[in-house]
Amino acid sequence: MRTQIAIIGAGPAGLLLSHLLHLQGIESVVLESRSRADIESTIRAGVLEQGTMDILTEAGVGERMRSEGALHRGIELAFDGARHRIDLAELTGKAITVYAQHEVIKDLVAARLAAQGTLLFEVSEVALHGVETSQPSVTFSHNGEECRLEADFIIGCDGYHGVSRPAMPEQHLRKNFQRIYPFGWFGILVESAPSSDELIYAQHERGFALVSTRSPTVQRLYFQCDPGDHTDKWSDDRIWAELHARLENHDGWKLKEGRIFQKNIIGMRSFVSTPMQAGRLFLAGDAAHIVPPTGAKGMNLAVSDVRLLARGLEQFYRQGSEELLNGYSEAALKRIWRAEYFSWTMTRLLHTFADATPFEREMQRAELENIVSSRALATSLAENYVGAF
Ligand code: FAD
Ligand code: DHB
Repeated sequence: MRTQIAIIGAGPAGLLLSHLLHLQGIESVVLESRSRADIESTIRAGVLEQGTMDILTEAGVGERMRSEGALHRGIELAFDGARHRIDLAELTGKAITVYAQHEVIKDLVAARLAAQGTLLFEVSEVALHGVETSQPSVTFSHNGEECRLEADFIIGCDGYHGVSRPAMPEQHLRKNFQRIYPFGWFGILVESAPSSDELIYAQHERGFALVSTRSPTVQRLYFQCDPGDHTDKWSDDRIWAELHARLENHDGWKLKEGRIFQKNIIGMRSFVSTPMQAGRLFLAGDAAHIVPPTGAKGMNLAVSDVRLLARGLEQFYRQGSEELLNGYSEAALKRIWRAEYFSWTMTRLLHTFADATPFEREMQRAELENIVSSRALATSLAENYVGAF
């Protein structure tokens, strides 16, 4: 089998790249290890920056996002029993949309299939070959057959645990940067009406809590937990008691309860692997970098990586120039490091660190007070949150 671009992984990065390339008349094949049903139902991110919404709209896959997603013009920071609104729209002129990642995936899969794109699900034993030559290839198993896909380029969009990053040749002065946090997020999906019109990021001595939403009837809530904890140790009553304690407030606002129908725990890390190119192999999205979820940046970064790559590949095929492709890693990393900084800052600001000294805890509260009482600091947070850079 031969194509122009071999894409490994059908997450937001791989699917969107394949679709953007198709719109430029560039052919690709996407190889995905999981089933279609699985990728279309895995619960992950929810917040889309304005720039992400714009790309999805321009690519013709934004219709459901616009009609079913919820546009949010602000977020709230809660601490010491009070809630403080950060008016994203007023401070930056931009907003965010809450629309689940698996819905973005459904829209992209539908668009790829409608355009007769080749998407192979449930592939296994994926291996990359000749990435430093001009004829790289990927071997894999599909439906019990051994296959080889030859391409001009291979794009690794296969997430943090994929095979593409380990296939980057060592001699390219590889550097990995990492920080693992001593906590995770316990996430639940709940059948209920929204408790709040906007997302609430709450700092509390018992730990961070986040009130988000999915639809008028389904809500998404998170709270800081031990990364080694297990969902079966958390009864529904225990979860609600913890959330009420962390979201307690003096203004009469109340969290709405409902039937909890999904529970999961995610670990948290900051991670960047550089460079993002070696010969004809490029990495995009979580394959190259991870942010802790507090800033809601992961999926948005994956989208901005593939937008850069799509432009580079378009230039290569239209003009025969590799200029943009060779500048990809540097250009992508500029945005990535800023998002890493913001995600780390939000994580530090809002979580409880078991080893923090009383002095450090006061510094954390003072920083929150500063943000909610200074237009300049609130604007900085808002700009980062909406991705206005
Ligand atoms: P992935 O979505 O991980 O896709 C990679 C794909 O590659 C997967 O489908 C995988 O099955 C496939 N794959 C892996 N290995 C192979 C292989 N060997 N061969 C073939 N295929 C393979 N981000 C935000 O922007 N906003 C948020 O609000 C947000 N909240 C989050 C909340 C949670 C609880 C979590 C866990 C994440 C959150 N994120 C958020 C992060 C976001 O989900 C990720 O950054 C995003 O999924 C990255 O997309 P990707 O396409 O790079 O990788
Ligand atoms: C959601 C996830 C995030 O990481 C975040 O910061 C806000 C919302 C969500 O899944 O709804």
